[in-house]
Amino acid sequence: MVRHFLSVTDLSRAEAEALLDRAAALKAEWHAGGKGVHPGLPMQGKTLALVFEKPSLRTRVAFEAGVTQLGGHPSYLSANDIDMGGRESVPDVARNLSRWVQVIAARVFKRSTVETLARYATVPVINALCDVEHPCQALADMLTLRERFGRTQGLTLAYVGDGNNVCNSLMLLGATLGVSVAVASPPDYRPDPEFVARAEALAADSDATITITSSPDEAVGGADAVYTDVWTSMGQEHESARRRPAFQPYQVDTALMAHADPRAVAMHCLPAHRGEEVTAEVIDGPRSVIFEQAENRLHVQKALVLTLLEL
Ligand code: CP
Ligand code: NVA
Repeated sequence: MVRHFLSVTDLSRAEAEALLDRAAALKAEWHAGGKGVHPGLPMQGKTLALVFEKPSLRTRVAFEAGVTQLGGHPSYLSANDIDMGGRESVPDVARNLSRWVQVIAARVFKRSTVETLARYATVPVINALCDVEHPCQALADMLTLRERFGRTQGLTLAYVGDGNNVCNSLMLLGATLGVSVAVASPPDYRPDPEFVARAEALAADSDATITITSSPDEAVGGADAVYTDVWTSMGQEHESARRRPAFQPYQVDTALMAHADPRAVAMHCLPAHRGEEVTAEVIDGPRSVIFEQAENRLHVQKALVLTLLEL
C-alpha cells in the first residue's frame, strides 16, 4: 500500500524516532562528505514533484537540494504552472503526476486538497504545509530539540502566538515524542479544539501534557524551548491589521525568554517578522536555534522521502 505523510500523526512514536535517527545519520554523512552527494545516490532516476500553491523558501529548497544530493530530480510546479483545481482537477493532477514521478510534495491552502491528491495518487504524497498542519517543520523541530538536549522525552516547549498549522503539528508530534507543549495565545486565536484533544490523547500515552493559556509568562515559565511563528499566516493577509493589536502582548523578546529555563532555546519556523512576533535580539541571540531548525529541514525531508520510497 502507498504510504503518505499528510499529518505528523501518520507516524507512530517508533516510526518518528526512526525517522529522526535516519535524519541524524544523513546529516552526519552529508557533513562528513563535504556537503556533496550521498554515496550510492539512492534516488537516482527518481523525480519528486513539488506542487506549491503558496510561496516557500525553506520547504522548496530543502526538498530540491535534498533530492539532488540523493541523486534524484525535483520538478517544481507553482500555481502559475498548473493552476490545480482551475486548469485541471486535483484528482487529475494526482493521476497524471503518478504516471511520471515517484513522490509528490504539495503545499496547499486547504487540507482537503492534499487529502484529495493522496486519495488519487498512486505514489506517496507529502503535506508540505496546509492550513491546519506543517508536519515537515515539526520533524525538523524535534530533531533540533533532540540534538540540543539529547532527548525529547520530558522536555517542555512553550509555543507563544497564533494557534496555527505550525502550532498544531508541534502539539501533535511533541505529544507523540514525550514533549509537553504549553500554548499561549490570544483568546480568539487559540488552536482548534480538535487538534488540542488529539494532542492530549497522544500526550496521555507519552507522559506529556498539553496546556492552553492566554498568559505567555505562564507558558514560558521554566520551559526548555520557546517557539513562535508569524501572527498572520499565508492566506490570512486580509486579517493582518485586526490581528496585530491582539498579538502585541505575545511578542517573544529577551524579557519573556528570561522566564524560561536558563538553558532554554528560542525557536521559529521562519520566515520571521523581526519586531513583531519576535525581536531581532532573540533571533540573532545566543539562545537561538532558528537556523539549525532551517538546516534540519534538509535532513528530515531527505529521511522522509527515502522512508516513503522504502529506500
Ligand atoms: N518554515 C517554512 O516552511 O518556510 P517556507 O515557507 O519558506 O518553506
Ligand atoms: N504559519 C505560517 C508558516 C509558514 C512556514 C504560514 O502558514 O504562513
